[in-house]
Amino acid sequence: MDKEARHSGHAENLIASEALKLSCWAACYYWSMKRTMTEPIGIQKAAKLKTKPNEGTLGFGQIFTEHMFLADFHDGEGWVNARVEPYGPLALNPAAAVLHYSQAVFDGLKAFRGVDGKIRLFRPHKHLERLNNSAKQLCIPTLDPELALSSIVQLVDVERDWVPKTIGTSLYIRPTVIANEAFLGVRPAKSYIYFVILSPVGAYYPEGMAPVKIRVEEKYVRAVEGGLGGAKTGANYAASLMAGEEAKHGGYTQVLYLDGVHRKYLEEVGTMNMMVRIGDEVVTPALGGTILPGVTRDSALALMRKWGIKVSERQISIDEVIDAHKHGTLTEAWGTGTAAVISPIGALAYKDQHMVIHDGQIGLLTQKLYDTIVGIQYGTAPDPDGWTVEV
Ligand code: COI
Repeated sequence: MDKEARHSGHAENLIASEALKLSCWAACYYWSMKRTMTEPIGIQKAAKLKTKPNEGTLGFGQIFTEHMFLADFHDGEGWVNARVEPYGPLALNPAAAVLHYSQAVFDGLKAFRGVDGKIRLFRPHKHLERLNNSAKQLCIPTLDPELALSSIVQLVDVERDWVPKTIGTSLYIRPTVIANEAFLGVRPAKSYIYFVILSPVGAYYPEGMAPVKIRVEEKYVRAVEGGLGGAKTGANYAASLMAGEEAKHGGYTQVLYLDGVHRKYLEEVGTMNMMVRIGDEVVTPALGGTILPGVTRDSALALMRKWGIKVSERQISIDEVIDAHKHGTLTEAWGTGTAAVISPIGALAYKDQHMVIHDGQIGLLTQKLYDTIVGIQYGTAPDPDGWTVEV
């Protein structure tokens, strides 16, 4: 098939899949939180306060703050009962749809305490747009973006003291929607819970900013076109566990998935998107529904374009990477993600090839991207595009 035909076929598929998503969304559910979520929210303060963790030893996602935000969705009513409550277990019927059919979506964003003491959210609108896009794909009622933002702002405001100060630490925010209707038939549920929890975090990988070793996955695939790969839903992460465990046993931090059809083109690293620098070009796999549209990916691309770097979102085969490594033109590789930020990749292993990149050291562009993004997040660098929202 020539390139043009492939493109037009792709465009038709995209239009068809958008139309399908739209009709599923419209036919299944369209709800606005406006009517009920604008009512003043109830805040029930925790009776017992927790001890704050030592910032120097923060890992990822092990400690949770004192409060959480909750709202309920009922068919015919929309989103109701928005409230802040003490952090604690959710009461779920064992027949809740989420426990059987995984109808659930989430997102992950961060609040940073700047050197000026101000608390900033990084690109919350973009994260909430992605949460709603994930929701549409799973026939989950969407949230009014402004009200969802206010749920996050209100919760972070209640938990201001939990935003750590040290550069490299932040308050990770996990907005989540789960189907809680007790029903075992397979169809979109009629009731849901939206909740937001907060976790003070340090680096995602134990390596911190030290380059990670990644195994290119041969056996398992993450997603195929038409599937859920572009949605932030637990199923994608459950599907990645086996590959991740096998990689860890082999001494690697994570796996890099190849496409599910040809087993040839780079996709993503499950917990982050992937970028390589080959000669004067930075290449990252194009978005096409099989990889997560990362917010840090988007930020890194925008910055590099502004800096005049040639950036391509295109198919890139593992053979092209191997070839570039052989010829010495593969100069840097890194992953991007909210949790991972900008994470240098020091080695890539594929079959019998072990490719050490930039002598296993962090590259100049990787460092510049990290410094710039972190600078905007902590208020030490200008934020010309208004990526941060103050709490
Ligand atoms: C994130 O980067 O926010 C993620 O959700 C990745 C992972 C921790 C699930």
